[in-house]
Amino acid sequence: MATQARTDAKRGLDPLKVREDFPIFQRKIHGKPLIYLDNAATTQRPRPVIEALERFYTRMNANVHRAVHTLSHEASVAYEEAHKKVARFINARSWREIIFTRNATEALNLVMYGWGLWELEEGDEIVLTIMEHHSNLVPWMLLRERRGVVLKFIDVDEQGRLKLDEFKRLLSPRTKLVGVIHASNVLGTINPLPEIVEAAHRVGARVVVDAAQSAPHLPLDVRALDCDFLAASGHKMLGPTGTGFLYGKRELLERMEPFLRGGDMISSVTLEGATWNELPWKFEAGTPSIADGIALGVAVDYLMDLGLENVYAHERRLLEYALERLLKLEGVVVYGPHDPEDRLGVISFNVEGVHPHDLASVLDEEGIAVRSGHHCAQPLMRRLGMDNTARASFYIYNTEDEVDRLIEGIQRAKRLFRV
Ligand SMILES: Cc1ncc(COP(=O)(O)O)c(C=O)c1O
Repeated sequence: MATQARTDAKRGLDPLKVREDFPIFQRKIHGKPLIYLDNAATTQRPRPVIEALERFYTRMNANVHRAVHTLSHEASVAYEEAHKKVARFINARSWREIIFTRNATEALNLVMYGWGLWELEEGDEIVLTIMEHHSNLVPWMLLRERRGVVLKFIDVDEQGRLKLDEFKRLLSPRTKLVGVIHASNVLGTINPLPEIVEAAHRVGARVVVDAAQSAPHLPLDVRALDCDFLAASGHKMLGPTGTGFLYGKRELLERMEPFLRGGDMISSVTLEGATWNELPWKFEAGTPSIADGIALGVAVDYLMDLGLENVYAHERRLLEYALERLLKLEGVVVYGPHDPEDRLGVISFNVEGVHPHDLASVLDEEGIAVRSGHHCAQPLMRRLGMDNTARASFYIYNTEDEVDRLIEGIQRAKRLFRV
């Protein structure tokens, strides 16, 4: 791989070189070059990931774990190897602690169905943040409805940072789980995980981290963090759609009940009952997305070749540049922490007098893809008094020049709407 060309010891990551690996940037949108700023929803895929999919179907296609024939053996080894790559990516102790899922939502549901439903009782408490994505909120509501579990929420300040004092007051021996989004998909806020995990463990609570927005953008170390579960989306970190994963501490996963039952996840079955396969297969029932899982491993290779420190530093530069330019625009409101140290490159903003959907349409005419809407975090939006926002989110292939194009697009929208 031409890794040296993509990163440089002095200047870090070179987005222009990185872009060459992404065929989609050859595409024109309304006759203009594509400027993709919707990375918080899903990223683009580099050629090695696309090629891994093709290689699987043209060279290796077979089911895993079942047959002794060569193709099945090769597919099984490659699929297992992908788990090992993800384990290294987040510094898990063992690849058996990595369960492949379809997305982060499924990973979080797995914790709820496999752990929460069995472990939690009436009166037990779950502490969540008000900035959770619906994926780490709605599943826990089922335990409130069916088990009488109490949900409590940590509030945010006006800049969208967690009120940690309040969090500590919410904790008690009744707290059995703390669920926290690592980085907000609306505001970019990075939450102080070490402090949160330590406080939660002090009262004996488990911690589930939603790392969907952090895993792609900064180095993660689950051993150092000591979180109990961590969920992420593969498709937000260059992997194929339909990929995500759950990390869980081995002793917890061993004790947990399977979420889906049937093929592949059993050790033996009689008419009286069944025993479970070893980790992680106990939680991967049925034929998995084998090609996609293998390609996720290739995405992880790609990111690790770039170096997550380089990824973070590049996005930090873009974030600072974009914040500086956006904050100077009249009639533009930028949400989230003002200090770039407290956030990642996800910027929600509104232009007074222009609905975010209209703004996104005007930007689309310029080939610029941004998200508009409530970003699946309605309680947070309500708390901060906003219905919808536009959102620009950066990744390894974005450039300062593209930020300039975004600013020009916003100015054009202001002219069109006469604001
Ligand atoms: C913070 C956060 N959590 C969870 C999700 C859900 O991810 P997935 O679509 O992979 O289920 C998202 C997706 O936008 C997200 O931003």
